[in-house]
Amino acid sequence: MANLTANGKPELERIPQHVAIIMDGNGRWAQQRGLPRLAGHRAGTNNIRQILEGCVEAGVRYLTIYAFSTENWQRPQQEVFGLMRILEDVIQRELDEMHRQGVCLRHLGWLDGVDESLSRQVVRAVELTRNNTRLFLNVAFNYGGRAEILAAIKAIIREGVSIEDINEVTVNKYLFTHGQPDPDFIIRTGGEQRLSNYLLWQAAYAEIYMTSIYWPDFDKAELFTALQDYARRDRRFGRVNANG
Ligand code: IPE
Ligand code: IPE
Ligand code: MG
Repeated sequence: MANLTANGKPELERIPQHVAIIMDGNGRWAQQRGLPRLAGHRAGTNNIRQILEGCVEAGVRYLTIYAFSTENWQRPQQEVFGLMRILEDVIQRELDEMHRQGVCLRHLGWLDGVDESLSRQVVRAVELTRNNTRLFLNVAFNYGGRAEILAAIKAIIREGVSIEDINEVTVNKYLFTHGQPDPDFIIRTGGEQRLSNYLLWQAAYAEIYMTSIYWPDFDKAELFTALQDYARRDRRFGRVNANG
């Protein structure tokens, strides 16, 4: 296995700057144990702290996690309500510690249609942590990649940006991730081999890692295994080899 330091962590020079995770498999994790799906969603909040720690230890600067997609509203109302409740609880439980650890939170998505008290918590969390710089944590919540691109197109037209000024840099400025580097590495747990409307614009050259491990079982060791896999990849960006 290449690029490992003595303590089992991947070598820093091959660490992705920005990791994005599709936290999938909570429902199946619960079903496998004869538990209701919501028990899986709850379990899927317990590993977040160690994933943040692992990112900081490895030297990842940006982490984006997919908490709820614009398509997830189509789930049974009871599951949607339960998920919202769990998200509110996780903010209550983790926010102070995240702030102490220097995590800067950003919300990717919309608060329309989201319960008043959860909306307030999201706004408060972003506000509280806005000046932190140790780890940038984006939470994609009520997020969809196509809706994000559409919103960018509309804003560009609304602001009367001239055609000559519309390029990739311009579009980046109108995305929720403005000012941030694109994800280098996308991890999907739960075994599905698709993007499910995640970061469609930003993922253009991301390395993709799919594991059958269900999200509640994805721990720091699994994260380091994924980062080791990333360290071995040859990112060519269309060239013949990575060095041009
Ligand atoms: C991912 O787990 C969490 C959300 C989509 C909110 P799922 O709920 O999709 O779990 P599976 O895919 O049904 O196992
Ligand atoms: C993607 O998972 C969304 C989140 C992890 C929040 P889904 O479980 O909703 O994706 P599909 O429906 O299997 O594509
Ligand atoms: Mg799923």
